[in-house]
Amino acid sequence: MRSTTSFAVAAGTALVLGLAGCGGGGAGGGGAAGGGAAGGDGGGDEQLTVGVSMPTQTSERWIADGEAVETGLTEAGYDVDLQFAGDDIPTQSQQVDQMITQGADALIIAAIDGTALAGQLQAAADAGIPVISYDRLIRDSENVDFYVTFDNEEVGVQQATALLTGLGYLNQDGSPGENQGPFTVELFAGSLDDNNATFFWNGAMSVLQPLIDDGTLVVGSGQTTIEQAATLRWQQETAQSRMETLLTGSYNGGEQLDGVLSPYDGISRGILTALQNRGYGSGDRPLPVVTGQDAEIASVKLIADGVQSSTIFKDTRLLADQAVTAAGSLVEGEEPEANDTETYNNGVKVVPSFLLPTEIVYADTIQTALIDTGYYTAEEVEAGQADG
Ligand code: GAL
Repeated sequence: MRSTTSFAVAAGTALVLGLAGCGGGGAGGGGAAGGGAAGGDGGGDEQLTVGVSMPTQTSERWIADGEAVETGLTEAGYDVDLQFAGDDIPTQSQQVDQMITQGADALIIAAIDGTALAGQLQAAADAGIPVISYDRLIRDSENVDFYVTFDNEEVGVQQATALLTGLGYLNQDGSPGENQGPFTVELFAGSLDDNNATFFWNGAMSVLQPLIDDGTLVVGSGQTTIEQAATLRWQQETAQSRMETLLTGSYNGGEQLDGVLSPYDGISRGILTALQNRGYGSGDRPLPVVTGQDAEIASVKLIADGVQSSTIFKDTRLLADQAVTAAGSLVEGEEPEANDTETYNNGVKVVPSFLLPTEIVYADTIQTALIDTGYYTAEEVEAGQADG
């Protein structure tokens, strides 16, 4: 058994990390922080390995995250063991088990189910391997050393704000818009085994609930709890099928549907497919306002084309930078710099966190938010596909 501290002493000054910068490269191509000397090979010491466990490759967001973390770690001189778990909990457990037995020096994990990895994390702690929870908080374990994420409550507030702006209730500057309703809407939430889903929902409902209470917003189906709105594993097909059911159940007689709160671009595309299959977006039936999250390239194109209304931009390059920086601190036996030590209680302890800001993207801010910042090129937006 090797403690983090004794390891750090052994590694000594070989660990000179200069990871603060923001690397280039688009979302598809990674490009986390560069700079800094080798993490593991400087001074001829043992090469350090960081295990990176990502939930799935079915979403471009996690592919971009995986690549960005891998690039940042490689540039910092680490070996990287990057695995994607196909959204299958036993697969992720097995992959993390294997990283531990193969002697990883630190783990960066975006969990599928936030409560399912307690056993693996105990084994990591026993082996002195520090663990960073990546974007999704690992729950019910004291063996989570650090959490890098975005301000998830604020994401929910932004999604609700984007919905109200799309409806014309608000202007983009927050002032009252031309249309004060009432509006008919539907609500979608993420996967309940992902801690973030509740943060997004609570943030959104902090804005929407008062408007539901005063009749400005009417939820046509009456489904207003997170359990009713949830989408297991954030899956597009699951969201499409719930939207189809909602349309059949509550809008069959041509009732108006003005907006749909969607917490993630994949879910948004499922919702939009269901709507388009029922004739929305053609003839005299406009598409309702549909929100999103992650600025996935397929959705950014839909926004540019006026199909999806908005998304929330979370710069995965910055998140990857933070993860690499935190890993560097932890393997040196130091505490990573946190900017939040209150919000993220994982059921056992408050996990020190670094939260990054997020931004609403509408059609007319794609240029400034996503293209001018180098996240995507104009050609990628046009094609709806990132070059990688
Ligand atoms: C969440 C994440 C979102 C979105 C979602 C589905 O954990 O915070 O940004 O990616 O998973 O993948």
